[in-house]
Amino acid sequence: MSVHNSINTGKEITLTIDGKTCKSTFGKTIIDIARENDIYIPTMCYLTKVKPIASCRMCIVDVEGVEGAILSCQEKATDGAVITTNNAQLHQERQNIMKLYNVNHPLECGVCDKSGECDLQNKTMEFDLEEQPFTARDQHRPVENWGHVSYDPALCIMCEKCVRVSTEITGDEALQLKFGGYSSTIVNTKKEKNYASLGEAAAVCPVGALVDTNFKYSTNAWELEKIPSACPHCGGGCQMTYEVKHDKIYRMTNNFEFTSLCGAGRYGFDYDNKNVSKDAKAFKAAVEAVKNADSILFAPQITNEEALILQKIKEQTGVKLISSEARAYQKFMQAYGEVTGKQLYSGTLKAISESKAVIVLGSKINDDSPTVKYHINMASKWHSARVAYMHPLEDLEMKNIVTQFIKYEAGSEEGVAALLVEMLLREVDVPDTVKAFMADLDIGNLSAESNVGEEELEMLRKSLIKKSGFSLVVGSDLYAHPRAAQIAKILALLEKYADFNVVCVPPAGNAMGVALICDLDDEATGKTVGYNVAADFTLSALGDGDLDMPALNQQEGTLTTNDKRVVPMNVALPYGGYVLNDIANALGFNAEYTIEYTKALPSGKGFESQEFDSLPDYFDTVGTEHRGYLLAKCETALNETLEEVAELDGFDGAIVYQCNPKEQFSAFTAICEPLAEEAFLLGSQQFATVTKLSDGESVSFTVDGVTFKRVFKIDTSMKGTIALNPSYDMGLSAPLVSSYRFSRVEIQKVGS
Ligand code: SF4
Ligand code: SF4
Ligand code: FES
Repeated sequence: MSVHNSINTGKEITLTIDGKTCKSTFGKTIIDIARENDIYIPTMCYLTKVKPIASCRMCIVDVEGVEGAILSCQEKATDGAVITTNNAQLHQERQNIMKLYNVNHPLECGVCDKSGECDLQNKTMEFDLEEQPFTARDQHRPVENWGHVSYDPALCIMCEKCVRVSTEITGDEALQLKFGGYSSTIVNTKKEKNYASLGEAAAVCPVGALVDTNFKYSTNAWELEKIPSACPHCGGGCQMTYEVKHDKIYRMTNNFEFTSLCGAGRYGFDYDNKNVSKDAKAFKAAVEAVKNADSILFAPQITNEEALILQKIKEQTGVKLISSEARAYQKFMQAYGEVTGKQLYSGTLKAISESKAVIVLGSKINDDSPTVKYHINMASKWHSARVAYMHPLEDLEMKNIVTQFIKYEAGSEEGVAALLVEMLLREVDVPDTVKAFMADLDIGNLSAESNVGEEELEMLRKSLIKKSGFSLVVGSDLYAHPRAAQIAKILALLEKYADFNVVCVPPAGNAMGVALICDLDDEATGKTVGYNVAADFTLSALGDGDLDMPALNQQEGTLTTNDKRVVPMNVALPYGGYVLNDIANALGFNAEYTIEYTKALPSGKGFESQEFDSLPDYFDTVGTEHRGYLLAKCETALNETLEEVAELDGFDGAIVYQCNPKEQFSAFTAICEPLAEEAFLLGSQQFATVTKLSDGESVSFTVDGVTFKRVFKIDTSMKGTIALNPSYDMGLSAPLVSSYRFSRVEIQKVGS
């Protein structure tokens, strides 16, 4: 469904298109209704997921009683309308449009990457253009290399789709139109990395003007096998298609009419565990290690089925299951559910995109969850939503979207949550217990401790008056906070009593699936086995453990997404070694393939008893998602008791914030060559002064027992005394870093 459908009064209408009676609802455009009824209207500039661009005129239709052809992509259908989508005159007009598109478009189809899937090529043939009567003076317009993507202005038909996705979807506004008659061109205003916008732009470009630089001239599009799957990197589980030939992934594509991929999803596919064969000795040792393990540590980059296998092993051997990020999220959601009575948050990404106001709390959302950031951007662009970004660090990448930045002190999240809830529920009819909790708050003290001014909150409150459709996006700064459970309960009040669309973004990989399926423990003891985590015996898909395991692009199974959907992932690349299921079978379980566990995923947690092979994986012509299934809503026991807000444990001085840069999520994105980048400790000049560090200096510090050796870099766009420390490059140690994201560390200068 296109975005403009959201202004939908819901009134039923009946119209006739090409003689067919079509029933629909008022508010939809003619093209939407035509598509709902399988009636084809040609377009060149239409992209369902953005607002109508209305630049090509190919979608013209005749409406009885209306003079002149009208644009079906932007005109709303009215009750009783009689519409003709094709006749001799419309055909001729479309032919003329195609002739103009072909003016000076170089005949490069033989070598163009888009050949075989090019809209211009296809429609030139569809409209029988046998000759080209128009010409314009040719001009030299060299190809521009924008890193991941190359732009050939000579092939550009100025349809504007690329500009719209960078504005309306990814939100970095990197691409812009530069008008100038036949010299009109697209300019890339962000020469630094902007993988997401560029990848999206190349995906939606209907011709060969924007192509992936690495893919260019590498193969013919029609030779590639298309394997539908889901992205495993961040918890978004975005729809994607591996395009594969001879056991090599050439590129990732997506159903770009309805979905988007961030740079990690689009370019982070080269992480398979290569050249693995069956090492029987290592396998035997692995089985023994698992049999005798006291604790199994695992990273959340696993499928739901593997999580279930681990759970079954726990039930058999009593081993502890340790997956720290998932555990923190599990506890947070359990506390949240004690207020709402539901196992998970009720919010959806779609509702975020339709909001008039969005509050982001406790996440560097631009880096943590691109797909959620895109939906916040959509709300901003389509509904002029107020976006309040509450965080200890300002994020310049969000500046096009954020209308109010509210900075708070690291560590003060409980107080901030309480202040927020008090402000938003002040005039709402809530139970006496909640009233008492709010009445007991020492607003002045909380405000002083968190550094959130009462006037800032008042400004936020005023900006929300007379608005409807509120979203709250909660992030992983909160899950491992020492007061996480209390924060969860406070924020849950907004879902319960203020009708907020709340989304608690899972912290990593398939953390939501793991949190639902596994009975997780808090601390490892005794002999340990790690699955993509360093341990006494390590199973690793990174190729550096005691027994190799397949990476997620070498496995089939399901993931649970941040939209609470269970989606299938398929095998893109071969794998010759052992898998977790083999170990389980050696321990006495009996499943030929891992996906036999798909139908056994716990129904008590909302999973359906469905065979993996029966899971659908497509979007229909109007964009309805048929990927796997949505988790059923499960009820949980209520316990609305709220504690008094705890005194803040002082958190001043130099602080390090665990945060991966955009497009990096784990050791698996780290090893993808197209995403390669060096990891630094990034801080402001002020941080450098406080810590007495200079730009380029080597330092070392320890978080959760993991020692980081980093080069310190000054980022002049940053302020304050919090530095950013990534963990994606830490391989098997990365999942061990799991405490509250802000930590005070002792920074040692290396070599001094
Ligand atoms: S680069 Fe492609 S998507 Fe962008 S305006 Fe040109 S033809 Fe359209
Ligand atoms: S990393 Fe996340 S947002 Fe990006 S494509 Fe993958 S699932 Fe989607
Ligand atoms: S699709 Fe309507 S003007 Fe291009």
